[in-house]
Amino acid sequence: MRSQILNLLKQAGDNFLSGEYLAETLNVSRTAIWKHIKALRDSGYDIESVPRNGYRLLHSPDLLSAEEVKNSLSTKILGSDIKYFTTTDSTNNQAKKLALDGAVDGTIVISEEQNGGRGRLSRSFFCPKYKGIWFSVILRPDFLPQEAPKCTLLAAVAVTKAIYDVTGVKVGIKWPNDILYNGKKLVGILTEMSAEMERINYIVLGIGIDVNISVEETPEDIRDIMTSLSQITGKKVSRLELLNKLLYHLEQLYIMAQKQSFAPILDEWRKYSITLNQEIKVISGNDVTYGEAVDIDDDGALLVKINGQIKRVLAGDVSIRPR
Ligand code: BTN
Repeated sequence: MRSQILNLLKQAGDNFLSGEYLAETLNVSRTAIWKHIKALRDSGYDIESVPRNGYRLLHSPDLLSAEEVKNSLSTKILGSDIKYFTTTDSTNNQAKKLALDGAVDGTIVISEEQNGGRGRLSRSFFCPKYKGIWFSVILRPDFLPQEAPKCTLLAAVAVTKAIYDVTGVKVGIKWPNDILYNGKKLVGILTEMSAEMERINYIVLGIGIDVNISVEETPEDIRDIMTSLSQITGKKVSRLELLNKLLYHLEQLYIMAQKQSFAPILDEWRKYSITLNQEIKVISGNDVTYGEAVDIDDDGALLVKINGQIKRVLAGDVSIRPR
């Protein structure tokens, strides 16, 4: 209901809409309209009300609330259900709980901040309030469980395209899932899965994008290794527009992966990769590999050439070594 009221107010632009008109159009009482307007004001919307004229939207806050996201969506599957938090520990944790409770394919969980944001290999991830896009998508694809790592590559391609569309910034993908700009991290992706031998129950794809974090707001110990879109472009970037574009690209690629093939997505990944054709060091548990990253295979594994032999690396932490 709230998102419908917002929609109507946005469409009306500078014009007032009477309480009576809103009530009739949405088939509810004028008191209900008044209550929703009050709730919208409480969450930061500046809505003017003038006796005999009605309501007019003066300003929308920069929120990724369910109402805002729903109104801007250009997708059918992703965002079919949206859970919104002002604060939570980790959207991946919330998404896993929802997935266990039967949440549908494409459900998204967004939080304005995370106080227990998680990265790969049990690392923490810095997620300050209103400054980035911290969200998770629940997917229930018909892939085999061993194909799930490719979802991370798919997500990295979608993020790269969305960032380019909205800001014109060309970022690079470091295998398997870091998005970097000039060697500094801009986006992290954490994919988690529940599966049986032959079937995926759910995949939770958690994506964190540093959008409007200034250098001063960045903790000193990570200042040298991370950046944000506002630092790169010199201006504030619309989180809503970026999330909308990202969901669009994610959905297109998700449909392509299920209905056609992963091959074009892997090709795009190769195009954006900053790992391929580089001398690298990969740490996988206690195993350290030095070699040249030559390609990824059909499962998304990294192929590393060591003394003329190809080694297949399925998971690990890559650093690129200067030649
Ligand atoms: C990494 O760089 O190691 C992955 C970071 C993933 C961060 C995102 S933010 C949204 C989602 N919720 C989390 O707790 N983590 C992911």
